[in-house]
Parts: sequence; structure tokens; C-alpha cells
Amino acid sequence: QQDKFKQVIAHAKEYGYIFSSSEIYDGLSAVYDYGQNGAELKKNIKDYWWKSMVQLHDNIVGLDAAILMHPTTWKASGHVDAFNDPLIDNKDSKKRYRADVLVEDYAEKINQKAQKEIAKAKKRFGDKFDEAEFVSTNPRVIRYKTEEKEILERLAKSLTNEDLADVKALIEELEIACPETGSKNWTDVKQFNLMFGTKLGASADSATDLYLRPETAQGIFVNFANVQKTGRMKIPFGIAQIGKAFRNEIVARQFIFRQREFEQMEMQFFVRPGEELTWFEKWKETRQQWHASLGLGEENYRFHDHEKMAHYANAATDIEFNFPFGFKELEGIHSRTDFDLKAHEEHSGKKLQFFDPEMNKNYVPYVIETSIGLDRMFLAVFSSSLQEEELEGGTSRTVLKLPAILAPYKAAILPLVKKDGLPEIAQEIVDDLKWDFNITYDEKDAVGRRYRRQDAAGTPFCITVDHDTKDDHQVTVRNRDTMEQKRVPIAELKSLIQKEVDF
Ligand code: GAP
Repeated sequence: QQDKFKQVIAHAKEYGYIFSSSEIYDGLSAVYDYGQNGAELKKNIKDYWWKSMVQLHDNIVGLDAAILMHPTTWKASGHVDAFNDPLIDNKDSKKRYRADVLVEDYAEKINQKAQKEIAKAKKRFGDKFDEAEFVSTNPRVIRYKTEEKEILERLAKSLTNEDLADVKALIEELEIACPETGSKNWTDVKQFNLMFGTKLGASADSATDLYLRPETAQGIFVNFANVQKTGRMKIPFGIAQIGKAFRNEIVARQFIFRQREFEQMEMQFFVRPGEELTWFEKWKETRQQWHASLGLGEENYRFHDHEKMAHYANAATDIEFNFPFGFKELEGIHSRTDFDLKAHEEHSGKKLQFFDPEMNKNYVPYVIETSIGLDRMFLAVFSSSLQEEELEGGTSRTVLKLPAILAPYKAAILPLVKKDGLPEIAQEIVDDLKWDFNITYDEKDAVGRRYRRQDAAGTPFCITVDHDTKDDHQVTVRNRDTMEQKRVPIAELKSLIQKEVDF
């Protein structure tokens, strides 16, 4: 898995998908730039989400709110007081950790020990092996399993109580060491607010403290009444938005999975109080179908229902994806009650209500939120599409099997040779197709090498112009995934590609 992850990062760079931010200055930790192909893939993911969420739903509209918002927004939302992670420093190494991640990693290590014992026994006993029985009778495995469970339970309890001293005690009791140096010399656990601060205005005494938004959702809540009235929206309805969010994450690792600047695709769906749990189930299903439609493999997804919930939620689930470092949160679906709208009513003194003609009364709507990280979706698509394939004759190829609808280039046009008028014909095909699709042209190297290059870059079709094309007006179309080749009239290229990339 570690190797696969390294391969993903290296491939993303080599093929112009993702670079470290300001790399010539050695980069900036947990900030990334999307290259020429990455920008296209990212845009295609956004379009796919926007089309399914906004264009295909009569009762969902879009919004593009500003990143900077009135500072009271973050007081009302609870972010000023409670958007914290527990932080602990190691006194010897001066390294800084998220205390909960440290303890969770430790629990994970214990779990791995249990799994190793189980795997060993499985090998030894073969068909006769009964895992449940083995776990319940083997003292070492019992110890590992209960220890891990206890750690996680106590951690969850401490954090809901915000009782950081408990987490510190847990770290000491378990003798958890600094992963880099092995030192066990820890400071107390502190709360660390994840919002980035900035200032509005030039003069030191009149400047206002602002925050870069840590989620796009609040831009939707504060515009609830604007959109509802001007769009004459009736409950139930939704507001969708794609945009940047910023968090000063303590642990910066796992590539674009956890960044300090990232993008969210969020939708707030406003419903009648009391109907929220029905809508919560509906949105769970709708979002699952959206993911399934991309064909990244059902086995790569799982739902994780929350037992421990944020103070504002009465139901919550994560859609987890099998990233190269294991199953982790890709999208959150939350039933947020009327917490946000009510809080903004209180802090602004403005009514954020809906007059329901059928019920003949005003109420503050309840909210179901779907929130997916664009960069995490990018990583899910990219990492699951990257494959090493053994070919006949003992060779292999690296192929990026992106869903065609998301691929940066839909087709590469390749003249077989750089002479005899073939480049001119190829260029005509490019000019004809480029109004409808993003098309690339490549005339360098032998055609076999060009195929491999396009495979690795994720282009679904290679279209080769050869000497016969001049007479029969046909080209060879090679399919990235099957490597099958067929002759196709130039006039049919548009419909052939269209079929693959249709929504
Ligand atoms: N409005 C709800 C909200 O922001 P969240 O679980 O904190 O909920 C939603 O974030 C999604 O945003 C996550 O499921 C994840 O995909 C993405 N996300 C959160 N923090 C991120 C980070 N540091 N880097 C990349 N994506 C992140």
C-alpha cells in the first residue's frame, strides 16, 4: 500500500496532475498546485457534481459566496469557540502532533498486531480456522483487541467532554512515544483553533480581524433568505456551492487528502422540521448512486454511521473510500437540524424562516447537508484509476483508467508519421473535434510509445491517421482500456466519443 501511494504521488507529478505549491522554494506544507492535466480533471469532477446536483434537480440552485465573511458568522456557527483540534508537543523533539491522531495511530498498531496473529493462525489451521473462536480464546489477541477498543472508546469520551487532561493521561499511561525520536516527554494537550486569521483594512487600529472560511456551508446559510425569496423557492429545496476552504491542519500528511487550502462541494437541503431523517436517508442513497455511476468499484466504498455526533447534528454518516492508505472519509452527510439558521437568526437579529402555505405557518427549516472534498474525490478517482497491467509477452504498462467523462483529454490525434500530409489531416481532425471535446495532438516518437504515453496520462482514445486515411477517410481508433483497435470513418468520430463521455 505504501508503494502504491508513492506511485500515485510520483505519477501525479510526472503527468502534470499535481505539483507541490511553490516547489522552486521547496514547497509549502500541505498545499498543492494542480497542473495542466490536474486542472482539467478537477474541473470535470466539479462539472459532474454540479450537473447532477443542480442541473438535474428542479429544486436545487447554485451559489458562489465570498471566501471572506463578516466575522460574526464564525461566532454564530460555533467555529470561533469550538473548531479546534487537540494539540500536543513533544518537549525533546519539539515536534507537534494532533493528540487524538497520535492515540488512534497507536491503537491501529495494536490492531495490526492482532491481525498478524490471526493471519498466522489462519495459515496454520487452513479450512478449519474459525476467526471468531480464535479471537475469543487466544489470550494475546484478546488483549490486543480489547486494548484497541478501550483506547478508542476512552479517546472518544475524552474529546466529547473536551477533557484534554484525560487524553494526556492516556498518552502517558500507554507510554506512547514520539514517532520520530521515541521520546515520551510530552507537554499538556491544548486546544488549537484551525481557522486562518487575516485582517481587513490598512490602518493598525481600525483593521478588522477576519477568517478565511473553514467550510463553504456558512455562505449558504447566511444567504438562505436571499435565495429563497429571489428564487421563490419552496421547501424542500437546496442550495449548492463549490469553493475553497482553509484549515490550519496540525497534521499535514497524506498528500492532497488533508490540505490547508482545499475545495469543497457542499449542498444544504432545507426541509420541514420532523421530515429531516427521511430526507437524510434519501440523500445518503442519492449520493451513493452518484459515486456508483462513476464506476470506481463498489468494493472501494463503505458507509460509516456516526455514533458520536457534532453538537448540531441528529444523524451523520461518512462515505469512506479505500484510498492508498486505507478507508478514510471522502464525503459527509449530516442532518444539521435548525442549528445554523437559528444561530444566525440570534446573532444577526434577522428572520431566517419560511412561510409554509400548506401548513399555514412560519418555521426555521431543518437542514440536510452533503459535503464532499473535491481534492479527496480527485485522489479517489486518480488513485483507483492508476493501474499496472501485465501484458502478453512479459511486458507491462501503466494505465490511468479514468472514467472517460472525467478524463482531461478525451482523445489524442496521432499522425502515423510526420510527413506525407498525415499531420495536416490529423490537424484537421483536431480542429473539427475541439469545439466539442478537449483534444490533444502528438506526433513525436513511434506510435507505440505515444499510445503508452496517452495510457499513462489517462486519454480514453488514440486516433491514428495513416496512409490509407487519404483514400478511405478512415482512421484507427484505439481504446485505452481494452487496447482494441478498429477502423472508423472520420465522420463518425464525434458520435463515437460522445457516446463514451455522455452524462
Ligand atoms: N460543512 C461540513 C464540513 O465542512 P467536514 O467533515 O469538516 O464537514 C467536509 O468537511 C469534507 O471536506 C470532508 O468529508 C472532506 O472530504 C473535505 N475536507 C475536510 N478537511 C479537509 C482537508 N484538510 N483537506 C482536504 N479535504 C478536506
